[in-house]
Amino acid sequence: MSSGLERVVVIGAGTMGHGIAQVAAMSGYSVTVVDVSEEILGRALEKIRWSLGKFAERGRIRPEEVEKVMGRIRTTTSLESACADADVVIEAVFEDLQVKLDTWRRASRAARRARLLGTNTSSIPIDELQAAVERPERFLGIHFFNPPQLMQLVEVIIGSRTSEETKRLATEFARSLGKTVVTVNRDVPGFIVNRVLTRFFEVACHLVEKGRYTPVQIDSALKYRAGFPMGAFELADYVGIDVAYNVSKVIAERDRTFRPIELLRRYVERGELGAKTGRGFYEWPAGARPSIPQDAGRDVDIWYMIVPGMNEAARLVEQGVASHEDVETAMKLGLNLPRGVFGYASELTPEKVNSVLSELRAELGEGYAPSSYLLSLVSQPRPAAASFEEIEVRREPPIGWIVLNRPHRLNAISPKMIEELEVALKDLSEDRSVRVIVLTGAGGRAFSAGADITAFSEILATESKVPMAHRFSLRFNELLRKIERSPKPVIAAIDGFALGGGLELALACDFRIATERSEVGQPEIRLGLIPGGGATQRLTRLIGPSKAKLVIFLGDRIKAEEALRLGIIDKVVPPEGFEREVREFAMRLAEMPPIALAAAKDAINAALEVPIDEGLRHESSLFAHLFATKDLMEGISAFFSKRKPEFKGE
Ligand code: NAI
Repeated sequence: MSSGLERVVVIGAGTMGHGIAQVAAMSGYSVTVVDVSEEILGRALEKIRWSLGKFAERGRIRPEEVEKVMGRIRTTTSLESACADADVVIEAVFEDLQVKLDTWRRASRAARRARLLGTNTSSIPIDELQAAVERPERFLGIHFFNPPQLMQLVEVIIGSRTSEETKRLATEFARSLGKTVVTVNRDVPGFIVNRVLTRFFEVACHLVEKGRYTPVQIDSALKYRAGFPMGAFELADYVGIDVAYNVSKVIAERDRTFRPIELLRRYVERGELGAKTGRGFYEWPAGARPSIPQDAGRDVDIWYMIVPGMNEAARLVEQGVASHEDVETAMKLGLNLPRGVFGYASELTPEKVNSVLSELRAELGEGYAPSSYLLSLVSQPRPAAASFEEIEVRREPPIGWIVLNRPHRLNAISPKMIEELEVALKDLSEDRSVRVIVLTGAGGRAFSAGADITAFSEILATESKVPMAHRFSLRFNELLRKIERSPKPVIAAIDGFALGGGLELALACDFRIATERSEVGQPEIRLGLIPGGGATQRLTRLIGPSKAKLVIFLGDRIKAEEALRLGIIDKVVPPEGFEREVREFAMRLAEMPPIALAAAKDAINAALEVPIDEGLRHESSLFAHLFATKDLMEGISAFFSKRKPEFKGE
């Protein structure tokens, strides 16, 4: 739970409201749900119970939790009485300006002690609602995605009168619900996700209307060549063509660079709304997904579909609406795009961007004027090293960052990620400007939740499952050994889950710094397995056999403080100060003489592996070798002249 916030009121018990209420109750808040009739409230409670049952079935909560969570939820039809002692009020009533204005007038007056008031609107201007709010500095947009129980992303939208404190509280609150927050600094129609998505839809529909491609060609190209999880038309069918059309319409009402999408409107008029009516761009017989041939998109120029969305996203960064990182996180978590949108920049040139956009701009208008930020992104010199898909490497000398970058899968470790980590580790280990390597996870929820279980299912489905599983484990161990043997200190910076293979990755690092909300563990036993990435060895060496057995035999998730006490983690820090602490520590290490650091790492690691006499001989020889370094001369001369040494690694 978030500090000082305990009582949450959710107004509106529909699709979104009941989900938000459930998520808040699951995170320990005491929740009151308000709607206009007892019948609606009763249905909402039923839906929450059903969803909790599903969580329990899948082992995501313990069965006894269902009643506990239900016990934290009250319902009422009295808005005023519910709000009277609320700390947080979240509104998810109909998307209707008058209804929302009326709700907020009453709710903000009644919610005298509340410190955070948030609307879940998708399209109504935050400022218009804020004008109706008493003490408007407490108010902002807090945009969950459907279904809130499963979707990890929350967009926090800052109104023109929202205070810094409210922004901080909203971020902390959404994070306490296990969500990843992106900040939308200014209220632009569609915020981040719906805005970029609408550009994708707009251009895909335009290309079909023009007769240039068919929906199947476009979808096949997006899925099989660009790596999107669904094609544009498949997605429109999936979310509902009416929903996609309405979003385009409300954005167009407030932003003249958009227009309501005609092709979608025609489907809506015919009542062909996609999956929910059984027919849209595709046929949707019960339960089946449309089949899209793999080679249908062979001749499609994919950049016509991708560049407009990238351009829209880049414009948000250029205009200061959101940071590059937040836009990218929103793309990964809100649209499930594994590479985000900026991930495609390295494959583009300014000439290509200009040629695609100038053609579309002539046909569709100013929404396609090239963003200078996008042009600068695609003009950057290509990194010499491999470009990665599942990790991100950032060189900020003297620190080299490796970010596990599959936030939609809680950074689960796949065979591909292992290959990429190895390349990145080698690059950074050999880069003289990098003195410390920090390994961390993207998305704010996990360092890594473990090996990708789908990789396990694939192995299980094959005849040769035993040798394949063996190879997987050996390959992972090979990587971990390389981390351990890197001449540079490697810090695991953990914010969120570090479970299974994720914790094993962290155990192979030299230090583990974690945020207070992090949880670690080796849950393999619960699947009928044991750790296969070295935990039986490294954890035992780190914390001793009995404690290691406790962790591995029971497979419990261990909270950061407890992990610190056990010795699994070296330092626990509050989430706000996390990155600063990691940087400060990394900078301290970076000031040390690199060759001596490498020698110290090597000698200490040897202590765990070889008999002491051999270890001592090893130490002596390393000690002696350091006498041949310039760094030692520098260290000694700085000592005598009482100045700070500057080690060059020579
Ligand atoms: P919904 O129609 O499922 O639920 C709205 C609920 O609000 C209904 O149960 C209704 O009885 C209740 N309500 C209406 N007036 C009320 C009042 N004066 N006091 C108390 N309750 C009242 O709508 P849904 O889909 O849950 O949307 C709610 C909000 O969330 C909207 O602003 C929508 O734009 C936004 N949103 C919707 C998403 C979606 O996929 N459905 C995704 C993200 C945001």
